[in-house]
Amino acid sequence: MSTESKVLPSLDTEKQKEYMRRVFSLNAQYKNEHQKSLRVFVLTLGCQQNEADSERLMGMALEMGYEKTDTPDDASLIIVNTCAIREHAEKRALSLVGQYKHIKAKNPELVIVVCGCMVVQEHRVDDIKRRYPYVDIILGPSLIHKLPEHIYNRRSGSRRIFDPDDKIYSFAEGLPIHRESSYKAWVSVMYGCNNFCSYCIVPYVRGRERSRRREDVVAEFSKLVALGYKDITLLGQNVNSYGVDSGFDYDFADLLAELDSIEGDYIIHFMTSHPKNASKKLIDVMASSKHVARHFHLPMQSGSDSVLKAMNRRYDFEKYIGILDYIREKMPDCTVSSDIIVGFPTESDSDFEDTMRALERARFDMIFSFQYSPRKGTPAASMEQIPQSVKQARFERMLELQNSISLECNKKAEGKTLRVLCEGESKNDPEKFYGRTEGGKIVFFAPCNENIGKFVNVEIERGDTFALYGKIV
Ligand code: 5AD
Ligand code: SF4
Repeated sequence: MSTESKVLPSLDTEKQKEYMRRVFSLNAQYKNEHQKSLRVFVLTLGCQQNEADSERLMGMALEMGYEKTDTPDDASLIIVNTCAIREHAEKRALSLVGQYKHIKAKNPELVIVVCGCMVVQEHRVDDIKRRYPYVDIILGPSLIHKLPEHIYNRRSGSRRIFDPDDKIYSFAEGLPIHRESSYKAWVSVMYGCNNFCSYCIVPYVRGRERSRRREDVVAEFSKLVALGYKDITLLGQNVNSYGVDSGFDYDFADLLAELDSIEGDYIIHFMTSHPKNASKKLIDVMASSKHVARHFHLPMQSGSDSVLKAMNRRYDFEKYIGILDYIREKMPDCTVSSDIIVGFPTESDSDFEDTMRALERARFDMIFSFQYSPRKGTPAASMEQIPQSVKQARFERMLELQNSISLECNKKAEGKTLRVLCEGESKNDPEKFYGRTEGGKIVFFAPCNENIGKFVNVEIERGDTFALYGKIV
C-alpha cells in the first residue's frame, strides 16, 4: 500500500517549509528594526509529549531571534505549555498564568502565549478571554507550528489571537527543536488518541491519531544517535496503534526493529502502550533487540473487569496479565511499570479489592497512581461520583501495598551490577551522583567524575522503596 497518498495530516510540504522561512525572516526583521534583545521563557506542565512540544516551541522562538531565559521576569515572550489530564494540572497552569499579570504590567510589550491541552477546551478559552486579558495568544497543541506567525501578528498590532483547535488535526514536520538535554531526547512517532477511555480528556484535546512517516522518524532518530544521544524515548499516546490511522504497511514493532538496527551506544524507550493492542510481535522484537530498554510501561488503570469496562479500556484483567506474563517469560529482567486510577465512578469496595489483588499478582516495579479527576465533556464526568474521602482512603491503602512491592523488587537488585545513565550530582549528598537504570529506576552512587550523560556500571548495594544505592565498578 502506498503510504504517500494516505499521509494527509502531515504538513510536511515545501509550501509549509517556505511559509516557515518567511515567518522566521519576518520575525528576524522585527528584531532588527526594534534593536532590542528579545528573551523567551517557556514553562512546561504535564507529560513527555508536552516536553517534546516545548522543545519545538523553544526551537521556533530561538529561530525567531529570541534568547533563552530561565526567569519569566526579564522575558519578552512567555510561553506556558499547559496540561488538562487532571484538575490539579489545570489549576496550577491558571495560577502560574495569574502570576504573570504583574510582569505584563511592568512590561506591556511582553507577549504571553498559553498553549497545550488545557486551552483546547472551550470553557478554558472563555476563562482566559475574560479573566486573563493580558494573555495575548492561545494556541492549541495541534497548531504549535503557527507560533511564529501569531507572535509576529500580535507584535504588529493584531488583536488578541485565539487559535485553540485544528479540526483537521495536522502536524508539521521539520520544526526546529531546541533539546534540553545533550544525552536524553524525545522523538514523537504519533500524535493524538482514538481510544476515548471514558475518564480521559486527551482524545478531545489532542485529536485523532496521526502517525509520522517511518522515514521521518528514522531520520530524526539517526541524527540523535550520530550526535551521541544515549537515551531516546519514542512518544505517542498509544504507540501500539502506530501507522493504523495512515494505513502504513508497517507497524510499531517494525519501526522499533528498524531503529534498533542503527549502530551506536544508546538505549530506546517508548511510551505509552495500550494493553488492548500490545502485541506479542512487539514483545518479541524487544526481547531480541540490542538497544530497546528492558522496561515496559503498561497502564492497567484498574484490576476490576467491570471498572475496566466502564472505563472503555477494551481488555479484562485476564488479557492484561497474559501480556504481562509473556513480557516476563521473554524478558525475565524486564522492569514493568503501570498507571492506576482509584475512585473511578462505579468503583465499589469489591472492585477496589480486585485492584489490590491485581497489584499483588502483577508485582509492578513501580506505579503512577492517580485519584480519578472528572474532566468536563468526558462520559465518566457525568456519572455518579465517589466521595473524596473514599478516594483518598483507597489511594493510601494502594500506595502502602505498592510501596511494599516496590521495596521487594528493589531488594532483588542488591548485589547486581546494572548499567546506569549518569544524569547529575545528587542534591542531598554532594559526594554522590544519580542516574537511571534502563528500567527507569533512580540510582545514587559514587564516585562519578565527568560521567554525566554517559553509561556507567553500578553495583547495587541497597535497594529502597523509591531508589537504589551503589558504587561504580
Ligand atoms: N483522572 C485521573 N487520572 C487520569 N489519567 C488520565 N485521565 C485521568 C483522570 N481524568 C491517568 C491515566 C493515564 C495517565 C497518563 O493519567 O492513568 O494513564
Ligand atoms: Fe487517554 Fe486512553 Fe488515549 Fe491513554 S489511551 S490518552 S488514557 S484515551
